[in-house]
Amino acid sequence: MAKLWGGRFSKDSDKLMEDFHSSISFDQKLYYWDIQGSIAHATMLGNVGVITKEEAATLVAGLREILEEIEAGKVHFNPADEDIHMNMEVLLTEKVGDVGKKLHTGRSRNDQVAVDMRMYLRHEVLTIQAQLLEFLETLLAIAKKHLETAMPGYTHLQRAQPITLGHHIMAYFEMFKRDYQRLDSWLDRNNIMPLGSGALAGTTFPLDRNETAAALHFDGPCLNSLDGVSDRDFALEFLSDASISMMHLSRFCEEVILWASQEFAFIDLDDAYSTGSSIMPQKKNPDVAELVRGKTGRVYGALMALLTTMKGLPLAYNKDMQEDKEGVFDAVDTWKKCLLIFEKMLATATFKEQNMRRAAAGGFTNATDFADYLVTKGVPFRDAHAVVGEAVAYCIMNDKALDDCTMEEFKSFSPLIEEDIYDKISIDTCIHKRQTIGAPGPQQVQAAIDANQLWLDGAKATHEAQAEKLAILICITRAGQQCPAPFSCAIREAEPAGDG
Ligand code: ARG
Repeated sequence: MAKLWGGRFSKDSDKLMEDFHSSISFDQKLYYWDIQGSIAHATMLGNVGVITKEEAATLVAGLREILEEIEAGKVHFNPADEDIHMNMEVLLTEKVGDVGKKLHTGRSRNDQVAVDMRMYLRHEVLTIQAQLLEFLETLLAIAKKHLETAMPGYTHLQRAQPITLGHHIMAYFEMFKRDYQRLDSWLDRNNIMPLGSGALAGTTFPLDRNETAAALHFDGPCLNSLDGVSDRDFALEFLSDASISMMHLSRFCEEVILWASQEFAFIDLDDAYSTGSSIMPQKKNPDVAELVRGKTGRVYGALMALLTTMKGLPLAYNKDMQEDKEGVFDAVDTWKKCLLIFEKMLATATFKEQNMRRAAAGGFTNATDFADYLVTKGVPFRDAHAVVGEAVAYCIMNDKALDDCTMEEFKSFSPLIEEDIYDKISIDTCIHKRQTIGAPGPQQVQAAIDANQLWLDGAKATHEAQAEKLAILICITRAGQQCPAPFSCAIREAEPAGDG
């Protein structure tokens, strides 16, 4: 079949060529955003008089019908039509006749794909933020339950000092909070509209880029057409945010895997989120955590692939950039899936508090507190460190914990040690005495939980408002159809749908 760009060609494409450069198999994922961008573009063309208002209305109605047909599974995209943008134009022209050929006035697939990808990612960013907020809520709930649950804190994976499970969980809260905030900043910086950049040098038609930017809920049009069509920072930044968050998930997974081992035995994963072995009947494997840890690699891969694709490209658009999509789509799906299942796995797990406490009491995690005790008796810290080091060596030889020593043994370490040593180096004292801001003392962890609960409530309200703002647009585009998750249709019901 003749290509939309076939005029200057005297031959058909080789079939191999057609398959090679066709992207419809994956960029059909953008159909919704492509239609939304086209509705805004067509409406604006009508408003500025490049086409008549009647023609604009015909195009908009046709696009809406195609949206319904796609969602009803009635549309089969044609690989010979290359990508989602050309498929749409062919479908529209079949539906509304020759006026369909006017849709692409003053537009190029270069600015079209850039605007589609930004809208797609903006939507996914909001969805992932909603998931992160839920995950953060789960972390807070677990931390609240375990303010007093002692466990060893580690450095070099060696028992170091006693902490609480609540404190450990709140460390992850801070990490995932920053992941959320990174997406806020993504939205702040990247909600800029490339449409109107044309192929690379704008257009001679009097397009109202402010109108399309407002209609599509962008903060404004981009200020350089070359940058508008050739920037993929927004995708790279997203992939980097995704990689960092997957790294956080992966570290957490690594701990869950360790904790689920019989060597640690700190956690019991729910059967619903574990698997067995086909040969070893006793096995219960932490597959969720392992797979999330494993899938982190493909998200990093998408980041590295796109960075590498972009590094040598001259301005402006180059077909290399079509390679941005599969990695970004895969990273979005992977991050969302991993957040969802990890949250469920964690929320249903049982922590083995006795084992954690026993581990905290072993391994000389109170050695620093012992040295601090000597400091309060006037011993310089370095000397105290040496005394306790010798005491630890003695205990290892005699297979006992520091707090198992008799008063006589303590006196042999230092005559300054008195009866109060037992209280001063007990696990509970060691934990409760840690009272600086951000320390594991339960009061401090509670203060961090309170501050973060306030932050979380504020973030939820802001996120909801932002998502609803975009929901207006989505509902108008859909003209009466159900909004996709996570948006609600409340606004559309409250306001009559626009004509847009
Ligand atoms: N499918 C293309 C992509 O994803 C759309 C832009 C095509 N532009 C072009 N000049 N061939 O990058």
